[in-house]
Amino acid sequence: MSSLDAFARGALAELDAASLRRRLVATERGPEASAARDGRSLVSFSCNDYLGLSHDPRVIAAANEAQVRWGTGAGASRLVTGNHPPLIALEERLAAHKGKEAALVFGSGYLANLGIVSALAGTGDLILVDALGHSCLFAGGKLSGAELLRFRHNDLAHLEVLLARHRGKARRAMILTERVFSMDGDRAPLAEILALAEAHDAWVLVDDAHGLGVVEPGARAPLEMGTLSKTLGAYGGYLCASQAVIDLLTSRARSFVYTTGLPPAAAAAALAALDIVETEPERAARPLALARRFTARLGLREAQSPIVPIVVGETETALALSDALQARGFLVVAIRPPTVPAGTARLRVAFSAAHSEAQVEALAVALSELRPPVAA
Ligand SMILES: Cc1ncc(COP(=O)(O)O)c(C=O)c1O
Repeated sequence: MSSLDAFARGALAELDAASLRRRLVATERGPEASAARDGRSLVSFSCNDYLGLSHDPRVIAAANEAQVRWGTGAGASRLVTGNHPPLIALEERLAAHKGKEAALVFGSGYLANLGIVSALAGTGDLILVDALGHSCLFAGGKLSGAELLRFRHNDLAHLEVLLARHRGKARRAMILTERVFSMDGDRAPLAEILALAEAHDAWVLVDDAHGLGVVEPGARAPLEMGTLSKTLGAYGGYLCASQAVIDLLTSRARSFVYTTGLPPAAAAAALAALDIVETEPERAARPLALARRFTARLGLREAQSPIVPIVVGETETALALSDALQARGFLVVAIRPPTVPAGTARLRVAFSAAHSEAQVEALAVALSELRPPVAA
């Protein structure tokens, strides 16, 4: 066996021993939160398609028209010949939606954070990240070469201590957090973080991947990034900011400059979805309302977003619970370390406007019958 394969097999054995090996499962997603696995039809509570827009006929038609007119691929990076009309229109609309001067679309949310953070910070700078921040916030921070420190989740006092201790030595400082935390569903105290940032001259980036269109935004950060892949039902990432920042990133964000532009269909789909977000407020309010109905029904802490975690602790418990739910027709994927901290494996229940009240009730009944050791 080659040393490469020996390495891979050894690492896989370790993952297996800790129940942390991940496997791809073929999943056929359909409309109305349906998802088939192994030929079995399930109701999915694990998609981030919060408004069901990835299967909306208007969004699909927009994607189809765009690819018929402009082709299936962008053909080159944005700075060469890949800056097609749907991307330009989408950026204008995203900026207006967020009340910012300009926007820049990236290949994905992950790529956006890599590029934004590493272009704005570097050696001699300080980056403070919420401890429960997404992997790509940490990856961007590491790539930048700045000093990277984590503050305890949503802990303003800790953030202030770190700023007081480290800000003075740093040339520039950034604070990275999320509007809605992806695995916990809770929200950052953004107004307070912005006030602290102002006092210490730090730049705040808020990752709005799970907030756009489904929660009241509240305070806006100078750097509002997000993804087109969740509520907007498409694919890609974006940053909304001042014109100067967007112009700088257009030249300096390497994950923007050195990669092909998004396909026209993805940009057109996101644009059509944004229209629906803006013109159908009752649809946008529905996932949070369903999440709150669910948390009230199960006696959990009131949902702050369409994401409700049911923390069970051990990985094996979360996997067993997920299997038991699947046997009852529900797809609720178990989330394990390192996606979440060790000892906090969980079911992550994500609500969508596409769910019916009856489906939510049925999941609540199934969960109470399975009696998970629920930690609210
Ligand atoms: C908080 C957060 N940021 C960024 C991303 C990455 O976005 P994308 O899927 O567009 O790469 C995700 C999820 O995928 C996320 O949950």
